[in-house]
Amino acid sequence: MASRPLTPRRPWEDRRVVLGVAGGIAAYKSVELARNLTRLGAQVDVVLTSSAKEFVTPLSFEAVTGRAAHQSLFSAGDSALHIRLAREADVVCVAPATANLLAEAAHGFAGDLLTTLLLATEAPVVLCPAMNHHMFRHVQTQANLEVLARRPGYLVAGPATGAMAYGEEEGPGRMLEPEEIVEHLGRALAAGPPWSGLPVLVTAGPTREPLDPVRFVGNRSSGRMGYAIAQAAWRRGAAVTLISGPTALDAPVGVERVVVETAREMQAAVAKALPGSRVVIMAAAVADFRPAATEASKIKRNGAPFEIVLEANPDILVETRRSRTPGAVVVGFALETGDLVTNAGAKLKDKALDLIVANDPREEGSGFEVETNRVTLLDQEGNTEELPLLSKAEVAERLLDRIEPMIGATGAASRTKGGRPRSRSR
Ligand code: CTP
Repeated sequence: MASRPLTPRRPWEDRRVVLGVAGGIAAYKSVELARNLTRLGAQVDVVLTSSAKEFVTPLSFEAVTGRAAHQSLFSAGDSALHIRLAREADVVCVAPATANLLAEAAHGFAGDLLTTLLLATEAPVVLCPAMNHHMFRHVQTQANLEVLARRPGYLVAGPATGAMAYGEEEGPGRMLEPEEIVEHLGRALAAGPPWSGLPVLVTAGPTREPLDPVRFVGNRSSGRMGYAIAQAAWRRGAAVTLISGPTALDAPVGVERVVVETAREMQAAVAKALPGSRVVIMAAAVADFRPAATEASKIKRNGAPFEIVLEANPDILVETRRSRTPGAVVVGFALETGDLVTNAGAKLKDKALDLIVANDPREEGSGFEVETNRVTLLDQEGNTEELPLLSKAEVAERLLDRIEPMIGATGAASRTKGGRPRSRSR
């Protein structure tokens, strides 16, 4: 988790985050959360409950946010503090949200600054539960969570399953890590039409075609480009399914990941996820060939030289043509080592795509196993847009900006003609 890059700055600059901290041992992680949010450019107002102060001091938060940390409903000279904080907040996060805090919030109690503020705010509220797993599983806590999860504008993020405090056995109740909470807050700030709740399907990574139990035919795809797209679409509010070949990457936060190995497994997973998908982005580097035979035991070296007979894998993208959701935006990638625009243009037509993202892996900073990419976007109307060398996260954002006006259009005729894509304000 620690290696995941922080959300890009865009949604954070000058946004007001109220971070409510209730009294649980996970409160120590909230200091890091406050620090991360501040580093991203947000203005973080921390509100501690009286029991939170048993675990962590207001001073710790003030040191990382550069702002006063609030503790009392009745602070001298500011009797409307709860209303001011509630009104100014762009998003309210409670981390950790203890069993007691959840009970209070579910029932509308307003006995202190934090719970009062929860009633007074119209901003989205993200609750990050953290407690002992017996307390989490308790029927009353579950009932409270159910009420809160259904409440408009509320999101319950977590808990994760893992080691508990006080030497208890593992179970659900660990607060999400600060990096994951940042992602959920970023999404609460940035989500909006047309992405909110939109089913998006992304493929990523290589496929591996087994030769014997230890060897395979594959390629050098790292999956980074597809993962960046999946994460970026989720951040905009989409419901993302990521079908991934074998990679070393963590699942993007919030994304439903299906891990497959071979092209045929990927094809089956795509066929299952395709119905209802409104945007389909096929970034996977699918192996075009597989060994005609897979040996059940390891091939011994004393058999060499020997030949490997390869047979063609299905073209997953072409196969989707029959079952695409009408009006879905379908985007492919084209990996070309020559005649980039001509070859990618041909794939755009052959595979009946709305958009194709072409790149040459031999170009410096492009292709496999690097954090950057230089791509050219081609659409059905013959528009070609060359993007500069960008981080894969930024390429993902630019690609989604380009797709955005196509969503909801029911045919090529009603799609945007060339022109600059509408850029998002956050
Ligand atoms: N693709 C696919 N199934 C395959 C091969 C490719 O779904 N068996 C998809 C890729 O995910 C990508 C697009 O098709 O979105 C183009 O992939 P690419 O490897 O560039 O092209 P190919 O169709 O394999 O053509 P070639 O290798 O001959 O250039």
